This record gives sequence, C-alpha cells and structure tokens, in this order.
Amino acid sequence: MGSSDILGTKRHQRGGKFTEGLLDSELILRTLNVRPGQGIIDVGCGNGYMSKLFSKMVTPSGVVWALDSDKYFIRILREETMGTNIVAIVGDISKPTQLNESCADLIYVSTVIHALSRERMPGFLQEVKRLLKPDALLAIVEIEKKETPFGPPLKSRYSPEELKEIVSLISVNTVQVGECFYMQTFQNRERGQTRSDT
Ligand SMILES: C[S@@+](CC[C@H](N)C(=O)[O-])C[C@H]1O[C@@H](n2cnc3c(N)ncnc32)[C@H](O)[C@@H]1O
Repeated sequence: MGSSDILGTKRHQRGGKFTEGLLDSELILRTLNVRPGQGIIDVGCGNGYMSKLFSKMVTPSGVVWALDSDKYFIRILREETMGTNIVAIVGDISKPTQLNESCADLIYVSTVIHALSRERMPGFLQEVKRLLKPDALLAIVEIEKKETPFGPPLKSRYSPEELKEIVSLISVNTVQVGECFYMQTFQNRERGQTRSDT
C-alpha cells in the first residue's frame, strides 16, 4: 500500500504523507517515557506506524487510540490491528471526539497541527485538555519553520516558540527528532498553576 517519493516520505495511494522513516522514533519513545499500562492517543495517526510502536510499549494493560479524520486510513488500520490494544477511530481533534474525558497519559500529534488554521486551534486545545489526565503529556511533532526540501508552506507552519504562545499548558522541552523535525512537549497544567493547586 503506497510508495516512497524521492525524499523518503511514505506517500499513500490516497496522497497521505507520513513521517515513518523520517523521525527518530526510539528517541521519541524514550523522551516521552512511554510505559506499560498507559493510555495514548495518536492524533492524526495516518498509517498508524507510531500507534503500533506505542502499542508494544503500553502492553499488556495499556491502550492506544489511533484517531484520524480520514475514514480510509482508519479502515485500513482497523483491519491491520484487529484484536490488538489499538482502537482505531474516526474523529476531528478540533471538535469534541467520542473519547472519554481524562483518558490519556499522552496525546501524540505528529505533523497535524500545520493543517489546523489558527481559528481551529482553540477547539483543538479544548479537546486536548478534556482528554488529558492531570499532569499528562501533549507531544507535538512538526516540521521546522524554515526552508526545507519538503513540507507545507512556511506560513502554515508553527515554530516551537509560536506553539508555546498558543498552547496554554506548561512547556516541558523541545527536542530535535529528525533532520527537519522537532517535538515540543507540554504538561497538562495551566500556566501559573502549581502542584499544590491541583
Ligand atoms: C501529514 S499526516 C501525518 C500522519 C502521521 N501522524 C505521521 O506522522 O506520519 C497528517 C494526518 O493528520 C490527519 N488529520 C488532519 N487534520 C486532522 C484533524 N483535525 N483531526 C484528526 N486528524 C487529522 C490527516 O488525515 C493525516 O492522516
């Protein structure tokens, strides 16, 4: 299913572009301290390659919700992962989803945010905050906001600094996770809120 273009980006028959092979997934798993028993949402999962890696790490009692607005990707992933701890569901993260409140220890959003206009960001943040457990992590992977050999127009990209302004959670760190990619993590606590407030 799909082929690779000259940049090594996996291109799906339907035109989807995935980061498989472009990111240091081991570094990502280590940085996010993914461990057994966790509940993880892979937002905009695409072909689900990260969902499958998360799935192995959270086994036996954890669960991975692979969410994508594209019904086609979800149908394929559902067929591939039947009987595993991956639950593939159709949903738009900038609107309320069918997932339960405070279900997630980690929400992972790889190369999805640039497709959300500034106007849709409040809806995204509202849903992410509803889904995250207190102190849980939000990880946003994006292509750097500079000239790169591939990627969306610069005006639709977010820099880590812009994300830190928009996302009203505690910024944890920014890590280089690929030649042209960074991962910005946040903890689910409002800025100015201390542990004793929770
Ligand atoms: C560039 S692909 C990245 C796929 C995968 N995360 C990766 O890193 O390879 C972006 C994916 O996000 C999905 N997507 C875009 N907007 C979305 C939204 N509002 N809610 C959920 N998924 C969305 C697209 O259908 C697509 O599968």
